[in-house]
Amino acid sequence: MKNLLKLSDCSIEYINKLLDKSELCKIGKYDNSCINKIVVNCFFEPSTRTHYSFQVAQEKLGCKVINFYPHDSSILKGETFYDSIMVFDSYSPDALVIRSNENEYYKQLLNKVHCPIINAGDGTKDHPTQSLLDLLTIRQEYGKFDGLKIAIVGDIKHSRVAHTNIEVMKRLNMDTYISGPSEFKDESYKYIDFNTALSEMDIIMLLRVQHERHSTQMKLSKKEYHEKYGLTKERVALMKKHSIIMHPAPFNRGVEIADDVVECEKSRIFKQMTNGMYVRMAVMHEMIGE
Ligand code: CP
Repeated sequence: MKNLLKLSDCSIEYINKLLDKSELCKIGKYDNSCINKIVVNCFFEPSTRTHYSFQVAQEKLGCKVINFYPHDSSILKGETFYDSIMVFDSYSPDALVIRSNENEYYKQLLNKVHCPIINAGDGTKDHPTQSLLDLLTIRQEYGKFDGLKIAIVGDIKHSRVAHTNIEVMKRLNMDTYISGPSEFKDESYKYIDFNTALSEMDIIMLLRVQHERHSTQMKLSKKEYHEKYGLTKERVALMKKHSIIMHPAPFNRGVEIADDVVECEKSRIFKQMTNGMYVRMAVMHEMIGE
């Protein structure tokens, strides 16, 4: 049975196949093999982009979509995550799309669930479809990955997007760096000073400060963060001519990104969101189509 749990399980050939398939979805080239397949989206952590782009993707493919909202469910009566998922498994769906704040939540479900599991984000570990949409956006921009320089800036420590992207980007021969406050550093990655990154990178990928995962309060105030690490118009002016700005979003205007930078000429943030829909169509089709 196919699952999509983490990108480190996927070969570069398979990843490129999913990106090619996403491009076909973008131009409407997909078959009818997902029509009437029943898919259940189970988001145990808040989501706007991932949840609803999965839903739009599934509906474009003709699936029948069930959305499970844990906070309006028997979870409130003490039912566990595992037991909730097994409820849906008892109805024989064709796929389960799951997000949880627990790292590798899927391990308890493998060999129990009878359909593909698509990981829509687990704790601080993996966010495979986010990485795929980031890669699609980069490939559309540069037509390659090899040799591109990227700095991921911000709360690296708590970011499943950073961890997933750095692993796959290294395999794609991209030159990967992290930057931002030292309290969010992960010593296993190469660190670059923010101002140096601005003038040297092809891609600046910003991250939100993920307060919900912090055990202690961030040392910097939001204002201090913006002054030191916020991408302002003045800092954008230091970037290379053809470089781009990415952000998985949600973004916090006035913290890691200035209001007037969100939709500036270098920003690909909303393009990433659109690509998310095509990537999730491709992933759904790969998991449950022919
Ligand atoms: N990028 C991302 O995962 O956004 P959501 O949390 O809104 O799904």
